[in-house]
Amino acid sequence: MKKYLVTGAAGFIGANFVKYMLSKYDDIYIVILDKLTYAGNLGTIKNEIEDSRVEFVLGDICDKEKVSEIFSKHDIDYVVNFAAESHVDRSITNPQLFLETNILGTQNMLECAKQAWTTGKDSNGYPTYKDGKKYLQVSTDEVYGSLSKDYDQPQPLEITDEEVKQVVKGRTDIKTYGDKYFTETTPLDPRSPYSASKTSADLIVRAYNETYKMPINITRCSNNYGPYHFPEKLIPLIIKNILEGKKLPVYGKGENVRDWLYVEDHAKAIDMVLNSGRVGEVYNIGGFNEETNINIVKLVIDTIARIMKEEPSYQSVLKVPVEMINYDLITYVGDRLGHDMRYAIDPSKTARELGWYPETPFTVGIEKTIRWNLDNQDWVEEVASGDYQKYYEQMYKNR
Ligand code: NAD
Ligand code: DAU
Repeated sequence: MKKYLVTGAAGFIGANFVKYMLSKYDDIYIVILDKLTYAGNLGTIKNEIEDSRVEFVLGDICDKEKVSEIFSKHDIDYVVNFAAESHVDRSITNPQLFLETNILGTQNMLECAKQAWTTGKDSNGYPTYKDGKKYLQVSTDEVYGSLSKDYDQPQPLEITDEEVKQVVKGRTDIKTYGDKYFTETTPLDPRSPYSASKTSADLIVRAYNETYKMPINITRCSNNYGPYHFPEKLIPLIIKNILEGKKLPVYGKGENVRDWLYVEDHAKAIDMVLNSGRVGEVYNIGGFNEETNINIVKLVIDTIARIMKEEPSYQSVLKVPVEMINYDLITYVGDRLGHDMRYAIDPSKTARELGWYPETPFTVGIEKTIRWNLDNQDWVEEVASGDYQKYYEQMYKNR
C-alpha cells in the first residue's frame, strides 16, 4: 500500500487531488498536512477526513518538528506539495508571506523527506534513498513569465507531432492567441512576487535533486477551475458576484489570456507523474484552452442565464431577478500591477511520455463548475464568511 503525504489538501487543487485518488485506489493511505489558512477549509474535505484511509494533521509546512513527526510515524512513499500562498493579487499586497510559505516551506518539506528517506551514501558521497520514494512539487506555468498575445482573434492550433496527435485525439477544437508556448525548457522568468516565490521553490527542488540526488518531479500547470475553487480567483468570483447581482470586476481591458484546465484533469496528471514520471524531470500540464478574461466572463454570464431559464428552480439561488444576469454587470477596473499578458502551456512532453492530455472541453467543464456552485451555496457561504468580505472591500474598493 502506498502512503502519501499531501500538503495543502484543504485548498482547491489538493482537495480535488485527494478526492480523485481515494475514488481511484482502494489500497492507499493519505496523510494531509494543512495549516488551514483563509484558503483552507475543513468542510471541503469533510467526507475524506472521515475515511479510514486518511489522517488530517493541522500544521505548517515550515514547521520542521511537525513535518518530521509525520515522517517518523508513517513510512511515506510520496510527498505531494500543494501547500502555498496561491493568489497573485495577495502577493502584491504582502510578498513576504509568499516567500516564507512557498520557498522556506518547500525547503523544509524537502529536508524532512531527505532525512527520512536516506539510507546511506554511495561511493561518490551522494545520499542513497529507500526504493520507490518521490517528492512532487506542484508548480505553475507562471514561473515561465508572460507570453505575447499575437492575435486579437484566436487561431486554430494545429498539432503536428504524430505521437501527441494520437494522445490528443479526443480534442479537435484547439485554438491559440499566440505563436509561442511554454515548454519545460523555456527559461524561468517570473514577474510577480507569487511567481518569483514559486520559481525559487522550483530551484531549491532542482538543487536537492542535483546536489543530493533526491528523487523528485516538478509539475507546472496552467490555470485550474472546478469545484471548491476559492472565490478570490476569477471564475468562482465571477460566478458568486453574478448570483448576487454584483459588478464583475475585469482588470484592464480584459484582454489577458489564460490557459484553463479542469481541476480533475490536473489531479489525473499528478497521479500519472507520480507513477510513471522519470525521476528528476519537469512536466508541463496545460488545458489546450486559451481564452481572454473578457470572453470567460461573458461565457459564465451566458451559461448561468441559460441554466436559470432552462431550469427555473435554480432561480432560488439568485439574490436578484434573473433579468439582471447580463453583460451590464461587467465593469472594467484598474489593472493588476505587472499583469502577465498570456500563459499557454505546451503539454507535449507529458502527452508523449505519460499519455496524458486535457480531457475535459471547456464548455463541459465550465457548466459542471457552475452547476457545482449552484448546488453548493452552503460551501460558498462558509468560505466567504469572515475575512472574505474585508478582503473584497480592500482589494476592489479603489480600483
Ligand atoms: P489554495 O490557495 O486554494 O490552497 C492552498 C492550501 O494550502 C490551503 O489549504 C492552505 O490552508 C494551505 N496552506 C497555505 N500555507 C500553508 C502552510 N504554510 N502550511 C500548510 N498548509 C498551508 O491553492 P490551490 O489553488 O489549490 O493551489 C495549490 C497549489 O497548486 C499551489 O502550490 C499553487 O501554486 C499551485 N497551482 C495552482 C494553480 C491554480 O490555478 N489554482 C495552477 C497551477 C499551480
Ligand atoms: O497560471 C496558474 C496560476 O493561475 C496559479 O499559479 C495561481 O495560483 C492561480 O491563482 C492562477 O493565477 P492567475 O493570476 O492567472 O488567476 P486569477 O484567477 O487570479 O486571475 C485570472 C485572470 O483574471 C488574470 O488575468 C487576472 C484576471 N482577473 C482576476 C480577478 C480575481 C480579473 O480580471 N478580475 C478579477 O477580479
